[in-house]
Amino acid sequence: MRKNIAAGNWKMNLDLDAGKKLASEVINMTADEVSNDAEVILIPPFLHITSIKQLAGSSKNVFVGAQNCSNEASGAFTGEISVEMLKSVGVDYVVVGHSERREIFGEDDALLAAKTKAVLAGGLKPIFCCGEKLESRESDQHFAINKEQIEKGIFGLSKEEILKVVIAYEPVWAIGTGVTASSDQAQEMHAYIRGLIADKYDQETADSISILYGGSVKPGNAEELFSQPDVDGGLVGGASLKSRDFVDIIKAF
Ligand code: 13P
Repeated sequence: MRKNIAAGNWKMNLDLDAGKKLASEVINMTADEVSNDAEVILIPPFLHITSIKQLAGSSKNVFVGAQNCSNEASGAFTGEISVEMLKSVGVDYVVVGHSERREIFGEDDALLAAKTKAVLAGGLKPIFCCGEKLESRESDQHFAINKEQIEKGIFGLSKEEILKVVIAYEPVWAIGTGVTASSDQAQEMHAYIRGLIADKYDQETADSISILYGGSVKPGNAEELFSQPDVDGGLVGGASLKSRDFVDIIKAF
């Protein structure tokens, strides 16, 4: 059956010392306080990954992710980081298609499909993000938008490949705004996405894939969100930068 996952996307925040302090606190508090079997993924900036991986090394439930990667294997791509490089420092997961990559850096569906393929070819697991903007929800286009992102991004994968993908539904209007999708809105979209996977692959495959919700997840709303049948955890931004808040979110399963 699918896993419960609490992933903390630090985005472009915290210097190395602050990142190490946060990771140590999360790792220690998780060991002391968390009794569920949720997987915890820390997703720091690239530069901090080696240090955070060392800190996480001994804990069996804490994994390390990267926020992005190149679709290219190597070569003259100044400023880029390859999947092999990430693998060599112990990365387990790579976020692909975060709305900030789509919007600010112009990453399109074809590039994101190539990145997803590259992550899987390197033996790592993609956290593939989708989500609609406010105007799409207000004009009732939200299902169509997420369907298109999913189809173009990951439906070129084999069944064996898609079973390694974690999906994160992150409505853009809920990211960093303090406005969370209601648990009903999250459940409705997660069930819809799972249905798309069942139609394309099969029900067993759909039931095996973790679908995370992202967008202003906080200790105060995590339990209600995570209690929805198709919400398998969270991709957390702001609240993952505070150890107390993030650990309380991990405890909410
Ligand atoms: P916030 O939790 O800060 O809204 O960010 C969500 C997000 O974008 C995680 O990837």
